[in-house]
Amino acid sequence: MSLRKELEEKMQAWRQYFEDVLQEYLQNTRLQPSVLNDSFRYSLLLGGKRVRPVLMFACAQTLGGKPGDVSRLALALEMIHTYSLIHDDLPAMDNDDFRRGQPSSHKKFGEGQAILAGDALLNEAYAICLEACRGGRTYLEASAYLCRCAGAHGMVAGQAADLGWQGREDAGPANLDFVILNKTARMLMAAAAVPAYVYGLDQNIADLMAEFGKDLGFLFQITDDILDVVGDFAKLGKTPGKDAAEDKLSAVSVYGLEKAQALADRYADLCVQVLDQLPYESGLLHEFVAMVRARQA
Ligand code: IPE
Ligand code: IPE
Ligand code: MG
Ligand code: MG
Ligand code: MG
Repeated sequence: MSLRKELEEKMQAWRQYFEDVLQEYLQNTRLQPSVLNDSFRYSLLLGGKRVRPVLMFACAQTLGGKPGDVSRLALALEMIHTYSLIHDDLPAMDNDDFRRGQPSSHKKFGEGQAILAGDALLNEAYAICLEACRGGRTYLEASAYLCRCAGAHGMVAGQAADLGWQGREDAGPANLDFVILNKTARMLMAAAAVPAYVYGLDQNIADLMAEFGKDLGFLFQITDDILDVVGDFAKLGKTPGKDAAEDKLSAVSVYGLEKAQALADRYADLCVQVLDQLPYESGLLHEFVAMVRARQA
């Protein structure tokens, strides 16, 4: 079987496994009032690609483990990602009416309830991380890393910078790097490095996995910025052209479309270079990089 085919099959199985983990969690979670129950479930079940949990599972397997070792942390990470998108779509942020082809949370439930759905997801994610720490010191290290990536030194800082540079002419490549590193790459760094922390591997392995996640995160966001220009609603599930309309700092606004494409290729190469330094067979992760480079959604 070709590696591509093998990865596609594995991804399908990992995605299904993640849906099962999520379903089991939701079955044991009934929130009140009912509007919170509905808004919480709505965004979790809206049809995201599950890139971060699947990446975490792929990294766990590459490092000699299995998805079940990191399933709770994968759930926490996807919940944090989901909250970040609910808040990202709010009128006060990117003002997007659609997400995954459906009305954004605030369009469906109103702004106040959307903010609270995000708050609920974030707090539940932290509760899951704390529970996971019962697994011992390595789970504590992994959870601490995940939370650092998501918070004030990570994704939240990136989102703050993203908003801060909106509509300004004086932003350049260094500011764009800060935004992408934090708003997007940190969460992929968490997905890639968490298994290394869970398995208690040498710090240099955790660092290499984080470096891989960082380069993959840059590739992921530069591709997102390109798709905002060349993509279509049917595949993206979100309105294209919004970055230009909202005067966003993006890879395309800084470099133009052609150079942004070349930059995406460069980050794909960097991912591969990092993988080749790992003392593990990383063919599946090579294919993962190729799939992110080629993604249309
Ligand atoms: C969207 O992430 C936000 C970015 C970091 C570009 P995804 O493209 O992973 O969104 P879903 O979860 O599949 O909808
Ligand atoms: C979103 O970046 C990053 C986070 C939500 C942390 P974008 O604003 O480009 O994502 P989309 O295009 O709305 O999915
Ligand atoms: Mg945004
Ligand atoms: Mg957005
Ligand atoms: Mg975008």
